[in-house]
Amino acid sequence: MLTEYVTEQHPITDTFSRPLRNLRVSVTDRCNLRCQYCMPEEEYVWLPREDLLSFEETSRLVELFTELGVDKVRLTGGEPLLRRDLPALVNMLARNPRVKDLAMTTNGVLLAEQAKPLYDAGLHRVTISLDTLRPQRFRALTRRDSLDKVLNGIKAAREAGFEGVKIDAVIMRGVNEDELIDLFEYGKRLGAEVRFIEYMDVGGATKWSMDKVVSRAEMLDLLGRQYGRIEPVTEVSSAPAERFVLPDGTVFGIIASTTAPFCSSCDRSRLTADGMWYLCLYAQEGIDLRTPLRLGASREELKSAIVSRWTTRRDRGAEERLQLGSRGVSVPIEGLKKDPHLEMHTKGG
Ligand code: GTP
Ligand code: 5AD
Ligand code: SF4
Repeated sequence: MLTEYVTEQHPITDTFSRPLRNLRVSVTDRCNLRCQYCMPEEEYVWLPREDLLSFEETSRLVELFTELGVDKVRLTGGEPLLRRDLPALVNMLARNPRVKDLAMTTNGVLLAEQAKPLYDAGLHRVTISLDTLRPQRFRALTRRDSLDKVLNGIKAAREAGFEGVKIDAVIMRGVNEDELIDLFEYGKRLGAEVRFIEYMDVGGATKWSMDKVVSRAEMLDLLGRQYGRIEPVTEVSSAPAERFVLPDGTVFGIIASTTAPFCSSCDRSRLTADGMWYLCLYAQEGIDLRTPLRLGASREELKSAIVSRWTTRRDRGAEERLQLGSRGVSVPIEGLKKDPHLEMHTKGG
């Protein structure tokens, strides 16, 4: 396929007619928290530093992706704010007119100091992970004492000028399902949309079990008992969050990737900090773009490699997991040690 015929209006599609639109770019595999659902282990195998893409390399790859139809780019990690001088990368990506939506997912710990520079550099949106408002519980859940920093970070994001700030809360049974209302009220006060996320059996979630998953049905029931009638917001979207509205007009989201996956409309792929490209959150194998990039492959060669992989894409990882019926962790710990790319914090949260 000649890649020059791929345009924003006519993106390439995979075997299920899903376009290549949404790229999640992990800028580091490091993190300054140790969330139980993501990094519960004591030790991790880190990516070698020399393998990390420079900002120039990342933005070059992103540019090729955008020439193939990608118009949503999300920076992730690990914790993206641990990557030194991140506003410089934001600045490079924001200058690409094909990027219509440039967002970042962060744990918020370092956001108070970086919100303004990121906004000034051209970042459009931030989503902050926040699973509890209770300091002791925060410490138990993340093994760090950083709740105040996160709350200040969220405030700073609003003050810096970010619109559409979202708050992501992973809900786990026996951990924080009693905080749905508090988290919801916190978001409402702040004017931030809260999304409740089902605990997923992604790589790295080595303590996952089905009985710890609080399902979308259960969450809606809990919220309905407090607030009354909940209506779905009708919209066409490829985003994982289904949105709902309460009688007072407040909107919130639920991401039910465990009990009701959205694979059939999934237009996202992930680029790791060392330039591996994964076509699904559950994919066991990635495509190495760093090596050809560093060996001097031409733009057309790189784009052809991307097109040929996307057009043969058949991934629907979360649906396949669901079909298993009974299931345990998706990647055993030995597998994660052998290939750390399979960790959610490496592949991009
Ligand atoms: P918006 O553009 O703001 O809607 O962002 P988003 O919802 O795509 O991004 P965000 O980083 O906030 O993702 C929210 C959560 O959705 C993640 O933390 C995951 O739990 C889940 N999620 C993200 N990507 C995938 C994916 O590729 N597959 C599945 N099954 N779940 C995902
Ligand atoms: N289940 C659901 N979401 C997860 N995340 C990481 N691990 C999991 C998991 N096991 C998501 C959270 C967090 C983001 C960075 O990654 O939403 O906010
Ligand atoms: Fe928590 Fe995100 Fe860090 Fe994982 S990458 S430990 S979810 S803050």
